[in-house]
Amino acid sequence: MRIVESVHAPSAGAKSERLEALASAHAAQCPHCTTATAHTRLVFGEGNPEAEIVFVGEAPGETEDRLGRPFVGRAGEKLDEMIAAMGMRRDDVYIANVLKSRPPENRTPLRHEIEQCGPYLLAQIEVIRPKAIVTLGGPATKLLLASELGITRLRGIFGSLRLECHGEAARDGALEIPVMPTFHPAYLLRNYTPETRRQVWEDLKQVLVLLGREAPARR
Ligand code: URA
Repeated sequence: MRIVESVHAPSAGAKSERLEALASAHAAQCPHCTTATAHTRLVFGEGNPEAEIVFVGEAPGETEDRLGRPFVGRAGEKLDEMIAAMGMRRDDVYIANVLKSRPPENRTPLRHEIEQCGPYLLAQIEVIRPKAIVTLGGPATKLLLASELGITRLRGIFGSLRLECHGEAARDGALEIPVMPTFHPAYLLRNYTPETRRQVWEDLKQVLVLLGREAPARR
């Protein structure tokens, strides 16, 4: 799917300050998150503002909603394992979601919700300017690759996200960021087979190669 609205990320100052300003703007203005009623806390995203890799999931679940942090439930444990398998720590990367508030009963985000909240994710990415994005599952992949194809068709093949930048960042021109779609950790938990584990590891290894990093031996 394609997003038409855009949110202008603050363009001056350190990335951490710009992300904080964006989080405040989101909390005050996001047309989705300021009206949704099923959530208790917003989950803006967290991690290293200078990260080379941004992981993008779907939406906060119950634990995330309670703690206000992304991927801290069971799926989060699996994501932590994936990050560790890449030879990194959670603090090295940045983790965000398509929606920043929990959908009722953890249902899949609806198109209008993504259209309303998604521009804030794009603005987050514009601030961080990562070298690669890993989309976890269908909604994140469809949004960032502007595609209607399913994750099984798209995973394992680099796509690209093109972002028009605003303010001072615009002088560097548009951003073109490689996007690697892979399975969502929750899917991996439900389908924990040698085949799905191999597929995800292959996807992550491609990201390491792109970044010029050595892939640790698979554990
Ligand atoms: N699933 C997601 O997609 N995001 C989270 O933050 C947690 C679970």
